[in-house]
Amino acid sequence: MYTTGDRLKVSLFGKSHADRIGCVIEGLPLGMHIDIDDIKRSMDLRRPSDRIGTSRKETDDVIFDSGISDDVVTSRYVILTIRNENKDPTSYSEFNRKPRPGHADLPALIRFKGMDISGGAQFSGRMTAPLVAAGAIASQYLRAKGIGIAAYTKQISDIKDENEHTFDEIYASRSFITRSISKEYDSMMTERILSASEDGDSVGGVVGCMVNGLPIGFGGIWFDALDVTIAKMMFSIPGVKGVEFGKGFSIAEMKGSESNDQYHMMGGEVSASSNNMGGVCGGMSDGMPLTFNVAFKPTPSISKEQHTIDLHEMKDTAISIKGRHDPCIVPRAVAVVEAMTAIAIMDQYLSHHPGEWEHDHHHLSIPSS
Ligand SMILES: Cc1cc2nc3c(=O)[nH]c(=O)nc-3n(C[C@H](O)[C@H](O)[C@H](O)COP(=O)(O)O)c2cc1C
Repeated sequence: MYTTGDRLKVSLFGKSHADRIGCVIEGLPLGMHIDIDDIKRSMDLRRPSDRIGTSRKETDDVIFDSGISDDVVTSRYVILTIRNENKDPTSYSEFNRKPRPGHADLPALIRFKGMDISGGAQFSGRMTAPLVAAGAIASQYLRAKGIGIAAYTKQISDIKDENEHTFDEIYASRSFITRSISKEYDSMMTERILSASEDGDSVGGVVGCMVNGLPIGFGGIWFDALDVTIAKMMFSIPGVKGVEFGKGFSIAEMKGSESNDQYHMMGGEVSASSNNMGGVCGGMSDGMPLTFNVAFKPTPSISKEQHTIDLHEMKDTAISIKGRHDPCIVPRAVAVVEAMTAIAIMDQYLSHHPGEWEHDHHHLSIPSS
């Protein structure tokens, strides 16, 4: 099992082509009511959409094996599993010999001798399904504390949505298959994905995420800081190549007088006129919305011919990948970013602020211009 978290621990198990995948969640409060329909909605957001997603369709029904009865948490350990019903290991056997460029095959086969890399094994995007279920539970916990999490597709290939968006606009991305912010972006991004797919190729992109309702001072310090924990969780998602908070890498070209989010009082509350820091200073929330972007690489498995090696004969060869793959990871990964953020923030809450929540706390607010 692979485990993350301190007070909220999530341990992941299974493989893409095992009978089941799942996770153990440790640390949910006893008596917490679980909204099962809300979990189903999150699972649906991760499932591939017709045309732009893989043809591997799974029902993704979440089974609670232990720790929840009558929709209430009854044990310190909750175990949930999801069946892998739509497996096709035959189309993968070639990768045990010819590693796919860009996937985990080469390092995994060299490191774990005799391993079967079918379906990407434990390195597959399929492993994110139980994490989305666990994240939906963490989100329910956080919503009850006034903390909201929403993500959207900010970029697919060269189609970039560089506008600022409110939390509600981001949340509404749930109605578009690309998880973009509007019908216009949805059709432009869909077109990019389809044209890459018709070419036997793939595209990458960027997911933007916002967390609302964190009080000033929220989060751990140093190695447990809020941004550190979020970054670690984001880099755990297969396919992630970059994470930036607020203005991120572009802050390097600003002057301090431009980048600093200057404070003032507004209606008795501490306020700031901008959010270049992405809501985090010193690793703690500064009360502004926490905003960060996550860059995903193009899906590694493509049908276009590429160079690789034959590990049995140790010679150069070529590969053209015919299995079922997403031509773009990003639309499905939006739900994964939301889930991983929820798990990270709930753990930060339980680890650093247990019982503090009902105290007065100050939110910064962006003045409406
Ligand atoms: C939701 C999701 C779906 C994915 N689908 C595919 C896929 O269909 N084909 C593929 O080659 N990679 C897919 N990936 C990406 C690979 O799992 C990932 O690139 C691989 O494990 C190597 O890890 P790395 O990219 O983090 O280095 C997916 C990732 C996610 C998060």
